[in-house]
Amino acid sequence: MKLFYWAIPVILFYAFDHLFYTWLPSNYKFDKQVLQTLAKELINAFPNNATAIMIDLAPKILKAYPGLVNELNFDEWVFNVAGGAMGTMFILHASISEYLIFFGSATGTEGHTGLHFADDYFTILTGQQLAAVPGALTPEVYLPGDQHWMKKGQAKQYLIPSGGFSLELAQGWIPAMLPFGFLQFLTSTLDFPSMVETTYYTGRDMVKHLLRVLYSNRQISPCAGIHFPDKTRFEITDKPSSRTAYN
Ligand SMILES: *[C@@H]1O[C@H](CO)[C@@H](O)[C@H](O)[C@H]1NC(C)=O
Repeated sequence: MKLFYWAIPVILFYAFDHLFYTWLPSNYKFDKQVLQTLAKELINAFPNNATAIMIDLAPKILKAYPGLVNELNFDEWVFNVAGGAMGTMFILHASISEYLIFFGSATGTEGHTGLHFADDYFTILTGQQLAAVPGALTPEVYLPGDQHWMKKGQAKQYLIPSGGFSLELAQGWIPAMLPFGFLQFLTSTLDFPSMVETTYYTGRDMVKHLLRVLYSNRQISPCAGIHFPDKTRFEITDKPSSRTAYN
């Protein structure tokens, strides 16, 4: 009987692993190559200016993926502490199968990437990212425009020197990545305001995109007649004042 209970997580793992390769990709909305191409255009236009790159890149991504991406708002950046590394991020999109964020650090940071049930594509916008697997005596170096593909289940040590920012796309079982992103709020920083904000911004997007999928898959929705405007009341507007404060 005891053996049976041990088997449950193993069976669940293989079920979710199977879906990762079969069903889950049919839900992916973003294309890593499209994102890299858009990023490169702005990197060339504004070399090494993260502010300028992001202010123009976010609307371009929104145009390529209407309704799927939040408007850039510097008031909604949050701290992210995970794997011993600390950075700051803005959530452009979060759902059960994907997230798209701006991530980086003005001061610089170093840590463990985590080991995820997702493929992660890290497009460098400014600065660089160094990464290494165990036993590597020289680092992999990723420069602006490069895309660092962290394969599912892979772990590395990484370093972002001061002023390194990136556009990060994760595709896979996103809920399984969340404990890594949240644990250090409880075990290290006790930064509960950041924890609440991160939970809110992540949850808001996940629910929004889940509802979108559910309603678009049904002919007659239980809320037929209720008008869902393209911009929900949660939608964000870019405040010029906060942009200036960031510079
Ligand atoms: C970077 O871009 C921002 C926004 O366009 C601008 O205000 C700022 O002066 C630029 N910084 C540098 C160092 O060029």
